[in-house]
Amino acid sequence: MVPLENPPGVLVLQAEWPSWQSALPALILRVGAVLLVVGVMAWQLAHHISRPLLQLREAVRRFASGDMRARAPRQAYRHKDEIGALMEDFNAMADRMQGLLLSQRRLLGDVSHELRSPLTRASLALALAQKQLPEGAAPLDRVERELHRLEELVSSLLSLSSLNMMNRPARNDLVDLSTLVRQVAEDGAFEAESGGKQVEPHLTPGIWVRGDESLLRSALENVVRNALRYAPGGTSVGIDLRREPSGARPVRLAVRDWGPGVPDGDLGSIFRPFVRSERARERTGEGGAGLGLAIAARAVKLHRGIIRAENPSGGGLRVEMALPAADPPEDFEA
Ligand SMILES: Nc1ncnc2c1ncn2[C@@H]1O[C@H](COP(=O)(O)OP(=O)(O)OP(=O)(O)O)[C@@H](O)[C@H]1O
Ligand SMILES: [Mg+2]
Repeated sequence: MVPLENPPGVLVLQAEWPSWQSALPALILRVGAVLLVVGVMAWQLAHHISRPLLQLREAVRRFASGDMRARAPRQAYRHKDEIGALMEDFNAMADRMQGLLLSQRRLLGDVSHELRSPLTRASLALALAQKQLPEGAAPLDRVERELHRLEELVSSLLSLSSLNMMNRPARNDLVDLSTLVRQVAEDGAFEAESGGKQVEPHLTPGIWVRGDESLLRSALENVVRNALRYAPGGTSVGIDLRREPSGARPVRLAVRDWGPGVPDGDLGSIFRPFVRSERARERTGEGGAGLGLAIAARAVKLHRGIIRAENPSGGGLRVEMALPAADPPEDFEA
């Protein structure tokens, strides 16, 4: 404050210091900007680390579920860090395992193929020998039966090995599944008669799928043949075909018998080659090599379907296949 002489009065000088309230918005703005920058950098860093790890995890998951072509995207991830090295190691391991599996499958196919010709020759020689047998000589029925089993085994092995070499069905036709199932059910009923069994089909007409008719037929035949083999005389085998209103695989095809079923612990493994459940072996005292369900499972998988088995309440075994549906051809009349 300064006193003034002439004229009298007082000159007041006042300096206003900025209060903290007025500085707050600027401060918030600055802190906000810093947080944003740090946030963006943190997000980028997390993205940089988590994205390739998620991709690697997806590749491992696909590989573990049987897709031998699954690889980590090493080309898309160019950094030479630990994640890149992990991707390279995974891809090298996957290459090697795929190679081993392929050579194992080739070997199986080659061996089966090589066995077929001598077996055919042995069967022909046996037929000739049987014709020339002197009267009263011991019959060669046993040899004939064993040769027949060997021929069946080799033909199943060949089917499985060629299915294993495919990534998709050889054909992509529109298949009238209702008709196909009806034909298999009729053939089954014919076979069942001699064992005092019956086949009971419940088929929804007009169900179509896309794929290879002969593969689908062989899958179903294997499942029906099992049901007829393991079911006791006097019982019936049910074959159901229906379509669910929605879902990726709305076509449901189930075969149910009243036989011994399969121990719960074996339900998943019976679809693997050469796996036979003890219970069924004991009850029937005979049987195949354990390839039928492996063939069925592979054929269903090639059609992007799922096959599973369960022991329904009341006994027996129920094998269900779920397949994607196709629209009927335009000229089809239900
Ligand atoms: N309907 C069924 N009831 C009881 N057990 C079954 C039935 N279907 C399959 N199994 C069990 O699953 C095993 C595998 O079946 P799979 O069809 O692969 O082989 P298989 O019938 O023994 O021989 P193959 O089919 O090669 O002639 C069978 O050995 C049997 O133990
Ligand atoms: Mg079988």
